[in-house]
Amino acid sequence: MPLVSSKEWLIKAQKEKFGIGAFNADNMEFVEAIIEVAEEEKAPVIIQVSQGAIKYAGLEMATAIVKAAAELASVPVVLHLDHGTDYLQNVRCLRAGFSSLMFDGSALNFEDNVKMTAKITEMSHACNIPVEAELGKVLQIGDNNSAETIEKAMTQPDEAVRFVELTKIDSLAVAIGSVHAMKDRTAKLDIARLKKIQSLISIPLVLHGSSGVDPESIKEGIANGLCKINVATQLSVSFVKAIGEMYNKNPAEKDMRKILLPGKNAVKDRVREYMGYFGCKGKGIIAGAKSGIVASEIKHHE
Ligand code: G3H
Ligand code: ZN
Repeated sequence: MPLVSSKEWLIKAQKEKFGIGAFNADNMEFVEAIIEVAEEEKAPVIIQVSQGAIKYAGLEMATAIVKAAAELASVPVVLHLDHGTDYLQNVRCLRAGFSSLMFDGSALNFEDNVKMTAKITEMSHACNIPVEAELGKVLQIGDNNSAETIEKAMTQPDEAVRFVELTKIDSLAVAIGSVHAMKDRTAKLDIARLKKIQSLISIPLVLHGSSGVDPESIKEGIANGLCKINVATQLSVSFVKAIGEMYNKNPAEKDMRKILLPGKNAVKDRVREYMGYFGCKGKGIIAGAKSGIVASEIKHHE
């Protein structure tokens, strides 16, 4: 089916208290892996295109791959811009056919973040496409990640209220203890802060940097208002490890598809595991929608 907007699906997730997996796709194999598992689990899914993926594949190619895979699926697929850098990039993604945008103004001061986010939201809403924005900052591994720094960068609940009112965004990425690009799942979310934010604002909340968060903490976060769970690093690590192992076992192999397939399957395992505790299983059933994914599976066995 054609791409769907994130707006209605995040609102459904918010009402029914489940999390929608927002998985970063770096190449065709990732896109296929994520959508095939969504199809198996009958779950709605968000495919995110990061700044790195845009540089790697180019915006038009990245869009075309996700659109083609979504067309084959019977479950809802959203194409989302991850950590959009500026106004013009958001315009280009809108034109390319993204069904969900993000502006990340977390490096700006509050006033400048509001100004740019509101400008992008106004433009995007004119085309009925929702916008996510970030307040506070989800740090990156390698930044100074002391407990104090992480805490200092967290979303302030009272500021979040003003930010949402002034920008008219559709979903808010909150900094509540996760750090981008962690490989071990040890971070714990500040659930008290999340509860406070959720009690004050009505739009769906988004978790970034989910790869490094303890699964139990993510579950608690979903029960307390997180509706979109962004995962990149765990997928990437699994893919690289699997193709490395395959190559090491078969260094004479010259068919790269045989090397890449275990990578794709490793991404599928990871996505399946995440969807298993996001509560999204069975939430993406659309009456009358038919899957063309079977045909794509046959392709891999030819
Ligand atoms: O925007 C992307 C996500 O926040 C991914 O973070 O690589 O730590 O899972 P992660
Ligand atoms: Zn992120």
